[in-house]
Amino acid sequence: MAHYFEERPQTASRPGAVSLVLPDLHLRLETDRGVFSPERIDPGTRVLLETVPPPPAGGDLLDLGCGYGPIALTMASRAPGATVWAVDVNRRSLELCERNARSAGLDKVRPVHVDEVPEEVRFQAIWSNPAIRIGKAALHEMLARWLGRLAPGGTAHLVVQKHLGSDSLQRWLEDQGWPASRVASRAAYRVLRVDAP
Ligand SMILES: C[S@@+](CC[C@H](N)C(=O)[O-])C[C@H]1O[C@@H](n2cnc3c(N)ncnc32)[C@H](O)[C@@H]1O
Repeated sequence: MAHYFEERPQTASRPGAVSLVLPDLHLRLETDRGVFSPERIDPGTRVLLETVPPPPAGGDLLDLGCGYGPIALTMASRAPGATVWAVDVNRRSLELCERNARSAGLDKVRPVHVDEVPEEVRFQAIWSNPAIRIGKAALHEMLARWLGRLAPGGTAHLVVQKHLGSDSLQRWLEDQGWPASRVASRAAYRVLRVDAP
């Protein structure tokens, strides 16, 4: 079965587009098959973008699992002085994110494969609609890898569906020593805030 988190999706390309409409932003984003939520902005992503506080104005920010880029482009538009690293494992997603950032004139978005972020970079903020469907062990490994790169005083905001385990993820984060709190709850979604320890 094809998954949206394959590195090189085998699914035939069928380009499409979606509108991202937020109070402060209106973007048309190119999408395709073989990437996450190509037919519409994911409702969890929307909850995150409508509830998260403004990002720090500068420094390095991260969208963990960028897909075609709705979160990274919103971060970049709200923090024009910051460098926004948009990472993913799916090459088709990264190409779309790159094109979408270019069309929006957001030239400080850096869509790169997860292994291509320079080792020394630390993030003032991480926003993510994390890939829960990769499985618990892979999810935990991914979060540990990137939360460990939060700058002192940095924060992460993660949106997770309640039925996909937002409460147990919050407990796991706390057990690992990352203070985590639920800062928004809308429909089936929870937004967790995680502070650098
Ligand atoms: C739930 S989707 C969110 C996509 C996009 N941010 C959005 O809101 O539409 C999660 C993304 O994480 C990516 N992903 C899967 N495994 C990953 C990993 N180990 N590291 C980083 N990203 C990963 C998937 O390819 C997918 O694009």
